[in-house]
Amino acid sequence: MNRSVLEETARHLLDAGKGLLALDESTPTCGKRFADYGIDNTENNRRDYRAMLVSTPGLAEYVSGAILYDETLRMTTADGRPFARMMADHGITPGIKVDTGAKDLAGHPGEKVTEGLDGLRERLGEYHQLGARFAKWRAVITIGDGLPSRGCLVANAQALARYAALCQEAEIVPIVEPEVLLDGAHDIDRCYHATEQTLRCLFDALHDQRVHLAGLILKASMVLPGQHAGQQAGVHEVAAATLRCLYANVPAAVPGVAFLSGGQSNEDATAHLDAMNRLDAGQAPWKLTFSYARALQQPALAAWRGDAANVNVAQSALAHRARCNRAAALGQYDPEDEKKVA
Ligand code: 13P
Repeated sequence: MNRSVLEETARHLLDAGKGLLALDESTPTCGKRFADYGIDNTENNRRDYRAMLVSTPGLAEYVSGAILYDETLRMTTADGRPFARMMADHGITPGIKVDTGAKDLAGHPGEKVTEGLDGLRERLGEYHQLGARFAKWRAVITIGDGLPSRGCLVANAQALARYAALCQEAEIVPIVEPEVLLDGAHDIDRCYHATEQTLRCLFDALHDQRVHLAGLILKASMVLPGQHAGQQAGVHEVAAATLRCLYANVPAAVPGVAFLSGGQSNEDATAHLDAMNRLDAGQAPWKLTFSYARALQQPALAAWRGDAANVNVAQSALAHRARCNRAAALGQYDPEDEKKVA
């Protein structure tokens, strides 16, 4: 493992105010997002959409890296450049989702374990050759009656840790993502507790597998009430609970926490990140930034609708969200900025 390469890549990805653009929807998930706007889920549409997003003028001021799906990393753009080269030409570091999805966990009704370790060493070597310098693996943790179970937390933490160790061996920075899902009617305290248990199991496993903490990025979910909870939480409450949970459970050696949006509205995801950075005022040992998929892409997808004539307006929509989230990563977001979309 080359620790200094990993640390340098992680530092670069976490450059002040910059975050990550998650573009790594599997083909079926991409199909669901496209279907909302009547867009056909063809290979060319997936390529054109993703190429349009990462080539947004000025995007590299706000976004340091983008996470791709296997198919995209292997593609060439319409003008014949390998996708990763085109991204690098725009100043965006290519990343790759390497898990193969969350499957039902045997003996644990209602819970999932993420798969993808078989053959991962070989795939990582290939991804590195194709230009990927960081990777992502997402575990999903469900809150429910008696859930999450310890068996689910340990199985997912072990897989995340083994994935992270393999990435570091290949000089690829692992993003470790244990997502506590927003589904359900639980209150914010349940979410805090489940997130705490998840992070404890995760960091135990990362230590066991000798993962170099300074060479990874944690992709965390925020501490929020379930989306069907009777009582939702205010921006300050979410920010304070999330920070408290991170302080109690994330070692200082970790260089950054890049949040997922998880189904929050675009503006909420931005406001929560901003509130954390304001509350903390740069005191935390880790950078606090974004790694959003839906909360960055949604307005751009809605504007594009599969029509090349809409590229400029779609790119402006992405640039606007990215700019707002950069401000939030610096604790300088003003909701009035929402009116400034070009
Ligand atoms: P969302 O921001 O849409 O939750 O997606 C982030 C992600 O990469 C999920 O793995």
